[in-house]
Amino acid sequence: MTLDIYQQRRVALLNQLPENSLVLLAGYQQKVRSKNIKYHFRQDNNFFYLTGFDEPDAIALLIKSETTSFQLFLRPKDKDQEVNFGTRAGVSGAVEHYNADHAYPVSEFTTQLLCQMKGITSFYVCDETDRFSSEIVSWTNHHRHNGSFDTPKQFVAIKQLAEVLHQHRLIKTEDEIQNIRLAVKASIFAHKKVMQACSPGINERELSALFNFSIANKGCSDVAYPNIVASGNNACCLHYEENCCELEDGQMLLIDAGAECQYYASDITRSYPVNGKFSNEQRAIYQIVLNALDRAIEMIKPGLAWNLINETCMKVMACGLKELGLLTGSIEHIMATESYKRFTVHKTGHWLGMDVHDVGSYHDTAGNWRRLENGMVFTIEPGIYIPLDATDVPEGYRGMGIRIEDDILVTDCSFENLSKDIPRTVDEIENFMAEADG
Ligand code: GLY
Ligand code: MN
Ligand code: MN
Repeated sequence: MTLDIYQQRRVALLNQLPENSLVLLAGYQQKVRSKNIKYHFRQDNNFFYLTGFDEPDAIALLIKSETTSFQLFLRPKDKDQEVNFGTRAGVSGAVEHYNADHAYPVSEFTTQLLCQMKGITSFYVCDETDRFSSEIVSWTNHHRHNGSFDTPKQFVAIKQLAEVLHQHRLIKTEDEIQNIRLAVKASIFAHKKVMQACSPGINERELSALFNFSIANKGCSDVAYPNIVASGNNACCLHYEENCCELEDGQMLLIDAGAECQYYASDITRSYPVNGKFSNEQRAIYQIVLNALDRAIEMIKPGLAWNLINETCMKVMACGLKELGLLTGSIEHIMATESYKRFTVHKTGHWLGMDVHDVGSYHDTAGNWRRLENGMVFTIEPGIYIPLDATDVPEGYRGMGIRIEDDILVTDCSFENLSKDIPRTVDEIENFMAEADG
């Protein structure tokens, strides 16, 4: 993305804030993995969305008073540190390359902030990791005691930036959609590689590594969340991350994995038989989940209330489970008592963007379920989970978790299923896996 985009976003945000606002954006700090080894750094999404600056320890101030200003506080240049850990933009680089109106070493932050707070009446804070939670009160106190002598001492109003900013992030622009498309495209390639490599005897960790290798081949350096590569009963743990078991003949495999591209996520799940051929029980459950997903996807268009996606998926899965005899009683009774939840376990989707579970409220300001709009991106991901210890269920169904997850873009009058090109029907999967064997 070009620098202009970050500037446009700052302008759009400040336009919505009252006069005399100050926005504090706390960037992330480097996390330690062990002793002097650090985790690879990834900037806070809100910070990156508004600045494009991805060095650790940075802080930004956005000021809206008589004029507007963007100030960046960052690690100064340091030859020794840069030889060891990579180059830094430094103070002059922040102005030159990141459009900062002023830049300072981060050590000068408190002094500058207290100066900038004069005349401010709204103090918007975006500090995801509570980096400054203990200082904020003392800063506002300082501000309160430093007004002019003839005005009453007043606390500045501390507000959450998230409430305003996350509405912006919820509706994706073309550039953002392009990054999500690239992430999805890499994931499609990788999911297909894994599906072809899947067979009894291979280890979950090998498939996880193959996924990462394959997205790298398509230009993505990282995944958006830890891969879930879960064979058999492991898939009944929704966020299974151990990825350490050998796949066995007769099991299902669930793989939930998504590449990240330029800070934008994909999030895709496929489930298929380890040996490439569904058993009758596996096919029956898989088809119920796929029917639920397809029924929900068909409904997508601007104006649809968010909750109807989950309700539709649940109704289809409840009917399917009743037909199989895994749920008893009338469908009205099943829906009223929510007895299907024993097998469906989780809700069926979330916004997708810079965060895999992206920001933005699922309700409007009146408290009603949000309605879909052009430019929203989200997942639909129904699942049915039948653990080994569900001994009241016929044996052939036990020890499997089946989830199918697609990434959906809302367009001006319809939708696009961005991830549809990974085999998803029973025939597509069996044929694709048979081709790999041949
Ligand atoms: N991969 C996390 C999720 O599907 O929500
Ligand atoms: Mn998801
Ligand atoms: Mn997922």
